Amino acid sequence: MTYVSNDHFTGRPVSFVLGQPLVRDELVISQERASDVPARERLLDAAFGPARFAKTCERLRAGRAPANGLALVAHVDGELAGTIRFWHVQAGGVPALLLGPVAVDETQRSLGIGRKLIAEGLFRAVQAGHRAVLLVGDAPYYNRFGFERATTRGLDLPGPVDEARFLGLELSTGVLAEARGLVVASGARLSRRAILPMEAKAMRRAA
Ligand SMILES: CC(C)(COP(=O)(O)OP(=O)(O)OC[C@H]1O[C@@H](n2cnc3c(N)ncnc32)[C@H](O)[C@@H]1OP(=O)(O)O)[C@@H](O)C(=O)NCCC(=O)NCCS
Repeated sequence: MTYVSNDHFTGRPVSFVLGQPLVRDELVISQERASDVPARERLLDAAFGPARFAKTCERLRAGRAPANGLALVAHVDGELAGTIRFWHVQAGGVPALLLGPVAVDETQRSLGIGRKLIAEGLFRAVQAGHRAVLLVGDAPYYNRFGFERATTRGLDLPGPVDEARFLGLELSTGVLAEARGLVVASGARLSRRAILPMEAKAMRRAA
């Protein structure tokens, strides 16, 4: 699979097999566009079901815009195959990002797309000067990127969570060492019109 991770890429990546250009299985990671939203929502519904809006992390995302430049999508041969977004939070007074949801189309899993989406997101987060990332997820998957439980021990989330799954990654060494207390949303608020109907419904339920 050819992997292109550059939004500024203008050419078409081409591999050659026996002298023939091969453009199948092209993976492109880029910033999400408005036109990606319907396919992203279908992918997230399929991956998480209706429970996706009941997650504790959703309280930190609902009604907020994702962090600038950190809503990414993966396309394989032009079809949306994966999504990842990061959100601004204050982690006990320390500015941080919340990673998630990340999901890959069921038919495209175990091909490295999730790993590339996360690696690309973390790379862009570092480039943008972010210093820490939090998430709720399976440690056996996220350990490989350096996420660990130890960095979130002083922090609380605004709802129930399996504590073993509350993980952190310091992009700047020691930045979470003094982080204590509640994680709160700090991203830009979305205008009413920008909120998707299902998200608005979930927010009404949670209120
Ligand atoms: C998790 C997810 C994004 C990974 O995407 P992917 O493109 O399949 O990931 P990669 O190809 O980079 O890695 C696949 C490897 O991770 C492992 N893996 C996937 N999910 C895992 C998990 N929850 N715990 C431990 N390992 C996991 C796979 O078994 C596979 O292992 P292998 O390489 O030894 O075969 C994808 O499985 C998915 O969309 N799952 C449903 C949504 C979800 O659970 N999202 C994460 C929320 S915490």
